[in-house]
Parts: sequence; C-alpha cells; structure tokens
Amino acid sequence: MSNDSVSKTFLVAALLCIVCSVIVSSSAISLRADQERNKLLDKKQNILSAAGLFEEGGDIEKIFSDNIEARLVNLATGEYDTSIVASDYDQRKAAKDPSSSKVIEGDVAGIGRRANLAPVYLVKNGGNVERFILPVHGKGLWSTLYGFLAVDVDFNTIKALSFYEHAETPGLGGEVDNPKWKALWDGKKIYGEDGRPRINVIKGKVDTSKADAVYKVDGLSGATITARGVGNMLQYWLSDDAYGKFIENRKLTGF
Ligand SMILES: Cc1cc2nc3c(=O)[nH]c(=O)nc-3n(C[C@H](O)[C@H](O)[C@H](O)COP(=O)(O)O)c2cc1C
Repeated sequence: MSNDSVSKTFLVAALLCIVCSVIVSSSAISLRADQERNKLLDKKQNILSAAGLFEEGGDIEKIFSDNIEARLVNLATGEYDTSIVASDYDQRKAAKDPSSSKVIEGDVAGIGRRANLAPVYLVKNGGNVERFILPVHGKGLWSTLYGFLAVDVDFNTIKALSFYEHAETPGLGGEVDNPKWKALWDGKKIYGEDGRPRINVIKGKVDTSKADAVYKVDGLSGATITARGVGNMLQYWLSDDAYGKFIENRKLTGF
C-alpha cells in the first residue's frame, strides 16, 4: 500500500486509536486499586484533621488506628449497630438502595435520601473519648459537599468542620476549604434552648457583640448558595432525623 494512499492513512489512524485506547484503559484498570487506596487514605487524613491529630509527614494509618474508633449508628434509634463492620460499610451506596435508606422529608440538605446507618468516629485518648466526628453532606451550588463535623463531648460545641470532596468554584464556593473560614467554626454552639439545631451560616459578617454570635458563622462573599448549603446540611445532620437521637442518647449514657 502506498504511503500516500487514503486507505493507508485511515488504517494507520485506526491502529493508533486502538493501541492508545488499550494503553489508556489498561492503565485506568491497573491504577484503580491505587486510586481507591489513596481515596481511603485521604478520607482518614481528613478525619484526623477534624480530630486535631493530623501531623504533616506522620503515619496516617497508625495515628488513625491508635486514636480513632469507627462505629455505625442506627439513625432511627440513635443506638450503635454492630451487624456490619464499620470499615466495610459504604454509606453512599446504602443511601441509593431503598432497602437500606429512607426518603428525607423536607430535605433542607438537598440529598433526597439518607442511609439508615451512618458512621461516627470516636476520637480517643487513653480510652477516653475526647470528641466525636460526624460525616455530613449536602448540596452546594454545583455539587454535593462531603465533610466531617467534629463535636466536643459536651455534645454542643463544634471543634472543626472540613470538607474532603466537593466541586464548588475555587475562590467562591471553594472557599469552604480556606483555613481562615474553617477556623471560624471552632467553639460555635449547635443547639438552641429549644433543643433544635441553631447553628447556621449567615449572609455577611457575624456581629460578635451579640449573644447569638455563637450560633452563627460568616457567609462566603460571592458564594451565598454554597454557604447556605453548608448551613442547611448541618441543620439536617444535627436534627432528630439524622444524628440528633444519637447525640441525645450519648448525653444520657455516654459513649
Ligand atoms: C462562574 C461562576 C461560578 C460560581 N460559583 C459559585 C459557587 O461555587 N458557589 C456559590 O455559592 N456561588 C457561585 N457563583 C455565584 C452564584 O451564581 C450566586 O451569584 C452567588 O451564590 C450569590 O452570592 P452573593 O449573594 O454572596 O453574591 C458563581 C458564579 C459564577 C458566574
């Protein structure tokens, strides 16, 4: 076949496409296990950050296994569930299956359904629980934000809030990852006198001279929708339909 022939050009192009697609798909398959492992490690790193235990260059697996106990909670009863090992549980998958989840009424967080079981991470020091970490998620503007809320053992004081997955715009909604904004959460109170979640993100700056400033966090300028989404997800996950019963029970009986 002549090098200048149309059929040879197509043949070479087709062969090149086949070779390239084989290379791309085989590397995607061979890297999948590594990607999953890295995703899990990143999640653990974020849990350690929320726990206040993350050390740059530290052994994440070791710090995690030495200090964190993962458990599952039945959100309807607020009691621990031991029918599944917490590390084997996939909350996102369970939320998609009607037999292991429920439709959320009201749905302020914009997530549609929630799994019946949810993980909690107990942060331990010499056997004592020092804080606990609740995975939370909810809709922002472009994406669902997934994060961890760390709560003090008084069951009412936030220690940290951080997100490990979202697709909000960098510089706008992406400012949820800004350390300065994240620092605003430390010390904020969750429940009002009526026992309902009162913590929220406001539009603009919090007036710190007012008594209710402990329930409010500054909004994100130019990103009101993402900021409102963060407030709404906390309102949901701290309510009786989600972790509220667990928190009430632990107040009575401890961890
Ligand atoms: C390209 C582009 C990206 C945006 N990304 C976000 C975002 O990630 N989060 C958000 O709340 N608003 C985002 N906005 C702005 C929203 O459309 C909306 O104007 C804003 O949430 C209103 O907030 P403000 O009242 O503080 O201005 C984006 C707008 C544009 C044009």
